Amino acid sequence: GRQRITLTVNGQQRTLDVAPNMALLDVLRHQLELTGTKKGCDLGQCGACTVHVNGVAINSCLSLAIMHDGDEITTVEGLEKNGQLHPIQQAFLEHDAYQCGYCTPGQMMSAVAILNDASVGSDDASVREAMSGNICRCGAYNNILGAIQTARK
Ligand code: FES
Repeated sequence: GRQRITLTVNGQQRTLDVAPNMALLDVLRHQLELTGTKKGCDLGQCGACTVHVNGVAINSCLSLAIMHDGDEITTVEGLEKNGQLHPIQQAFLEHDAYQCGYCTPGQMMSAVAILNDASVGSDDASVREAMSGNICRCGAYNNILGAIQTARK
């Protein structure tokens, strides 16, 4: 049977009945129709599905939705506030930090988490290392790094 959970998603409380084997990613995309979060590998290897759970970036393909009862989830749709792009979104635009764009939501969610994490150094090498779980098949890595360093300012 399905289990009832309540999530706060991008500031809105949502009560849902979910199958116990359903990944958070699939609940976000299919039950909440938040399709900004992407499915790349479904194996925890590409980072396309990155969202924040209580402020921490996770691969939502690897996490069962039922484990998140009561949690606060932020997806890429929650970055923009009052019609204003988040600084990371603005910086990605300015730096052309994407080509096909498929990995971009996950890249941005990881970037925001890194910018909020005082334990991650601000030098390029530290940022590259911290972003290494987010794969970009187009190879936009240099522009992504540039965007992150611009958004930091
Ligand atoms: Fe989750 Fe690739 S879809 S890490």
